[in-house]
Amino acid sequence: MKITYYGHSCFSVEVSGKIILFDPFITPNSLAADIDINTIAADYILISHGHEDHIADAVAIAKRTGAVVVSNWEIVQWLGKQGVTNTHPMNIGGHWFFDFGKVKCVNAVHSSSLPDGSYGGNPMGFLVEASAGSFYYSGDTALTYDMKLIGDYKRMNFALLPIGNNFTMGIDNALIAAEFIRCDKIIGLHYDTFGYIKIDHKEATDKFSRAGRELLLMPIGSSINID
Ligand code: NI
Ligand code: MN
Repeated sequence: MKITYYGHSCFSVEVSGKIILFDPFITPNSLAADIDINTIAADYILISHGHEDHIADAVAIAKRTGAVVVSNWEIVQWLGKQGVTNTHPMNIGGHWFFDFGKVKCVNAVHSSSLPDGSYGGNPMGFLVEASAGSFYYSGDTALTYDMKLIGDYKRMNFALLPIGNNFTMGIDNALIAAEFIRCDKIIGLHYDTFGYIKIDHKEATDKFSRAGRELLLMPIGSSINID
């Protein structure tokens, strides 16, 4: 699985020949100024919740690529009003088999309003299971005991967790989350973008390595392969 990081909580994963883009927020992110959204490929766009820092570029990328947008019912209705009609609504607890594999929506402890103030439904995370492997994207969330269910349910090759604190869990709780989901390889998200969420990279990666786990802080625009 090839993972590319576009800054904040936006990344893509190439699975079974399809590109899945998560939470597109690029043009308002000064740290991602070198990324041109017109060069981003996507067959699917998964959106965890309605906040601006997860949905800002969703309409533009969806319209250009024709990607299927997967999100909760309320966000899909809102996207429809912006002219995005190639959508698939889901909600927490449900799963669906797409052509690249299975997506299951899981609980996230956060909030979800849309940029214009519309109701954004409940925030969620995604478990993606494909023949090449499985991964968990938690979305914006606090540490929650529900994550133990994920550890019991399926072994994930890697997980993407917020680590920036203030709006989501921080590094110490993300480390406990990694224990709950029983995953050794974590990609950090939702840090450094704003003043409230700036982190010390060395302190963060050291805490993970002392616990025998790996925290990857990917440079924006870079890609890695995890199998
Ligand atoms: Ni949020
Ligand atoms: Mn956020």
